[in-house]
Amino acid sequence: MPVASKALRTCRRLDEVGFSDIVVVRNQVMALRAANKDVFGFHGGEPYFETPQPIKDAMTRALADNQTRYAPSSGIGPLRTAIAEKLRTRNGMKHVKEENVLVTVGGAHALHAAFQSVLDAGDDMLLFSPYWTPIRDMIVMAQARPLLVPTESACKEGVGHALERYFTKATRAIYYNTPQNPSGTVFTRKDAEEVAAFAIKHNLIVIADEAYEDLVYDGDHFSIATLPGMAERTITCYTLSKSYGMTGWRVGYATAPEPFMTAMRKIVLYSTNGVSTPTQWAALAAMNMPQEFLTNQRSEYKKRRDLLVTGLNELGFECAMPAGAFYAFARATHIHKQSRVAASRLLEQAHVATVPGVIFGPQGEGHLRFGYAVPLETIAHGLEALKKYLKR
Ligand SMILES: Cc1ncc(COP(=O)(O)O)c(C=O)c1O
Repeated sequence: MPVASKALRTCRRLDEVGFSDIVVVRNQVMALRAANKDVFGFHGGEPYFETPQPIKDAMTRALADNQTRYAPSSGIGPLRTAIAEKLRTRNGMKHVKEENVLVTVGGAHALHAAFQSVLDAGDDMLLFSPYWTPIRDMIVMAQARPLLVPTESACKEGVGHALERYFTKATRAIYYNTPQNPSGTVFTRKDAEEVAAFAIKHNLIVIADEAYEDLVYDGDHFSIATLPGMAERTITCYTLSKSYGMTGWRVGYATAPEPFMTAMRKIVLYSTNGVSTPTQWAALAAMNMPQEFLTNQRSEYKKRRDLLVTGLNELGFECAMPAGAFYAFARATHIHKQSRVAASRLLEQAHVATVPGVIFGPQGEGHLRFGYAVPLETIAHGLEALKKYLKR
């Protein structure tokens, strides 16, 4: 007798995991562009410049040299050595050695490996909100529960106090992103010290996301792992995507102490088995780019930030000057109090593409995220289009 066929299903742990809402905006923009409409695209999070030539040349050379075979799954030696050196000298993580470095398929995979290595089913994880959307899903995919700590009020009352209020007995870790996507917030050294004291007091692990470390406009970037007592409890994740215009190359890295490094190596081994070998040689060239390259990019972004944020405030959006990353997170309740409605009005009627703030957590409602990693002309023309829309 045939067994009655039941509907096939996927594993339950994916039931609550979402799929990126930003893709919906991207598809709408593509549809408008396909219909020959000019769209001012502020919805993205990709550098406006192309990958620098020395990085592309290193890839070509690697191919010519037949660097096309399996590499060690945690990364080729020269790249891990260069990353360890960068972490020691630029980030001040004096304790880091080559064996504390893992090369990953972008920052996203470093974060995935970190969450999978730290969280058990039923654990809680603290994160500041609004947050980069995939983080919540990555926490849920590890069968843990995200505990949202509102960033704005936390910065006012003190991040240490705020974390205490949301802490539960099941809390195991904190996701600590600075500079932040989507708000552009940069945590101060004092904030980092409070987070560190809190983590040490409750014996928590910190997963630090420093994807935008090179985009801090006022003051310097500060890595929480350098504080006393933090090296042993911090996993720090990086990407080459933003600093070097390498979003499509998919290369990033993480640094962690044991036992987390071994755990993360297992996740990488059994998921991607490492980053493509020629890409790693190109990544080595990126690590060797002169510091002026990063300084120049930062001043280019600062121009964009100033133009956009000043313009938005003149048009009735409320937007504090973001201290880092390349996003302006503007209050847009004069367009509509629901950010999804506000975003679709601006897209349909002004052809200005933004991301509704609510996608980044309930604390983002009433806001729109404008990514300013775009040409200056896009900002100027986009502001014109908004002005026309608001005058109509
Ligand atoms: C806060 C944050 N972390 C990490 C990443 C990861 O970037 P990627 O996977 O492209 O390296 C991003 C990308 O948008 C980000 O915004």
